[in-house]
Amino acid sequence: MIFYFTGTGNSLYAANTLGEALGEEVHNLAENLKRDELKLTVGEGEILGLVFPVYYYSLPTVVEEFLEKIAIIMEKGSRCFILATCGATTGDATKTARDILNKKGVSTDFVFSVEMPDNYILLYDVQDKGKQEKMLINSKDSLKRIIEIIKEDKKGDYNKIKGPMPGIMSLMAGAIYRRDRKTSKFNVSDRCTNCNLCQEICPVDAIEMKEGKPIWIKDKCVHCLACIHRCPVGAIQYGKKTESRGRYINPLSGL
Ligand SMILES: Cc1cc2nc3c(=O)[nH]c(=O)nc-3n(C[C@H](O)[C@H](O)[C@H](O)COP(=O)(O)O)c2cc1C
Repeated sequence: MIFYFTGTGNSLYAANTLGEALGEEVHNLAENLKRDELKLTVGEGEILGLVFPVYYYSLPTVVEEFLEKIAIIMEKGSRCFILATCGATTGDATKTARDILNKKGVSTDFVFSVEMPDNYILLYDVQDKGKQEKMLINSKDSLKRIIEIIKEDKKGDYNKIKGPMPGIMSLMAGAIYRRDRKTSKFNVSDRCTNCNLCQEICPVDAIEMKEGKPIWIKDKCVHCLACIHRCPVGAIQYGKKTESRGRYINPLSGL
């Protein structure tokens, strides 16, 4: 069973690719987190997978909450992997996930990271189409290698893109992410057609509609940016800078 969190489809694409190759069901982590009770038994021969994007060298808050909440029984002969998708470096995001699982008595057999197009347009523009295509081709190859590693049962930590001082980077940037996830800068232009898509696709129900326009709820929003990237008319902005920046949806994700 593979649980994924995604804003723009990179992690969904990775989860689906692995799920298909390994014969494991793929589940939406944020949807599962809404359940009152979260219990899982992973039987002999089965695999538990966790696929998520890196945010500020850390875990998206919703992923951390999921890991803290879920009760997991790993039966003898079951295995577990963590896969982080990121634009460039993960910091200690995979270690944090591993540590939380460890505290629950779940040992992670495989740790992976895959570089994919960067979606953090609050800070930078998206990469140009040529670079995105190259990254997607490379990510396909990386996923193939990951599948081989799991099938051949070569356990280990294969995340080689933690970047410099991953512990300190995760600690500092992660603290900023958890504290400062502002929603006051989200705004919607006249191009908005009141289609409600942003509300429907928000994975954490952080958007309410008021007179046909979206309102963001700070306590719920995890800054996945699905709303900005997937607005069909580009009506959603964050401050002023995103107006001139591109949008990104993983073309292989089916989103
Ligand atoms: C809030 C936020 C913070 C991010 N921080 C990082 C980061 O610290 N390091 C990195 O390499 N990529 C970072 N990214 C880029 C994403 O991790 C990357 O594009 C990821 O593959 C997106 O996955 P998704 O399409 O499944 O949402 C960030 C993206 C967002 C939205």
